[in-house]
Amino acid sequence: MSDKHVKLTVPEGKTAELPIIEGTMGPPTFDLKTLHRDTGYFTYDSGFAATAACKSAITFIDGNKGVLLYRGYPIEQLAENSNFMEVAYLLMNGELPNPEQYEKFDQEITYHTMIHEKMRALMKGFQYDAHPMAMMVGTVGSLAAFYHDWMDIEDPEHRRLAAIRLIAKMPTLAAAVYKNSVGQPFIYPKNSLNFTERLLHMMYAVPAEPYTPNPVAAKALDLLFILHADHEQNASTSTVRLVGSTGANPFACVSAGIAALWGPAHGGANEAVLNMLDEIGDVSNIDKYIAKAKDKNDPFRLMGFGHRVYKNFDPRATIIRKACHEVLNELGIDDPQLDLAMKLEEIALQDDYFVSRKLYPNVDFYSGIIYKALGIPRNMFTVMFAIARTVGWVSQWLEQYDTPDTRIGRPRQVYIGPKPRDYVPLDKR
Ligand code: ACO
Repeated sequence: MSDKHVKLTVPEGKTAELPIIEGTMGPPTFDLKTLHRDTGYFTYDSGFAATAACKSAITFIDGNKGVLLYRGYPIEQLAENSNFMEVAYLLMNGELPNPEQYEKFDQEITYHTMIHEKMRALMKGFQYDAHPMAMMVGTVGSLAAFYHDWMDIEDPEHRRLAAIRLIAKMPTLAAAVYKNSVGQPFIYPKNSLNFTERLLHMMYAVPAEPYTPNPVAAKALDLLFILHADHEQNASTSTVRLVGSTGANPFACVSAGIAALWGPAHGGANEAVLNMLDEIGDVSNIDKYIAKAKDKNDPFRLMGFGHRVYKNFDPRATIIRKACHEVLNELGIDDPQLDLAMKLEEIALQDDYFVSRKLYPNVDFYSGIIYKALGIPRNMFTVMFAIARTVGWVSQWLEQYDTPDTRIGRPRQVYIGPKPRDYVPLDKR
């Protein structure tokens, strides 16, 4: 923190002295707390393009340089050397675990993977064709009913346990949602497997025969989960924080985060990218679709392109593009959609519309192609994202509780409705 401040004088002559907050990295920030009190003015920032809503020590992004750090560690190093459980520990606790801490954490997650039997009854109430994200919103929110009365939200150990439960139970719920859609029996979590193997087992095993998860698929999922684990104050994380700021049950907070993630402008983009590639169909149609994306009268956008923060490249997309080739090679899959995606990227990146607006492929441009290679159905892509992002959501929710100046989130507005007017009785209208 510094004692620097900026003076702002409004047209009526009133002045506010706004302290400048400096983080360890990133742009300096004006603290606007006293602005309304001293000047009578609010600020307007649609979409929070320049507004920090919290202080956080978890994730750092430099969008101009394509930098992403989890607790200070570059994403490239974590993707190369770490695994999802270790990253989850790091994000939640602030430091990489030593071997004993890692073992204990992994065991704790493993032993909280079961869900209440009544959850299965709840799931059976959904139609087979219910969208998996709709079921995730409903079932994760329903977990609040199983862990509400005993929970003392002021007790840090209760909060930590809720976070562990959420990370542990998400794959179990996700697999159950999938089983519901294909009409197969629910498979219980198997403790001898690691996090991603266990997920694959719960999704693809059937009681009729043994199933061994493919290690290439488990490793690929682990990498995708590392890359999706947290991304500072994105729409779903901000939703979790906003709901959390009211003191709501953490399962309800994460359910709200899942709802926000579902939208095609956010996590739903990975599903939308493959739909778009289907629609484009062939390299010969790319020019037509690029023209549609540039046409302001056409709602079509290049899905998986553009990002609010990254204005140079998305480091996660660079890692995923490479992994995409490796995974498809290792699995012996030749997917023409990968060739189409690469050609689309190449053409878009030479086009002045995309170059001048700094629109680059984001994390979701290639992730769907890997999920597809692993046999994961399209409508489950965003659910996979939610499993990974749960780590970020709970880490941010825990941090919020430990930050002394946290207050209920309550944005203001610029009112543009009618001025006061008198009520007209029904028979006079
Ligand atoms: N295709 C075509 N044009 C685009 C695209 C796109 N994918 N993205 C942005 N633009 C254009 C806009 O039309 C706008 O042009 P203008 O200045 O001429 O009006 C300009 O680029 C800036 O775009 P905004 O929408 O203002 O940027 P914003 O930061 O609000 O939106 C977003 C970012 C939502 C990611 C946007 O780029 C988009 O819709 N992308 C496609 C969906 C997507 O891939 N989402 C996943 C994001 S990553 C994640 O959540 C995991």
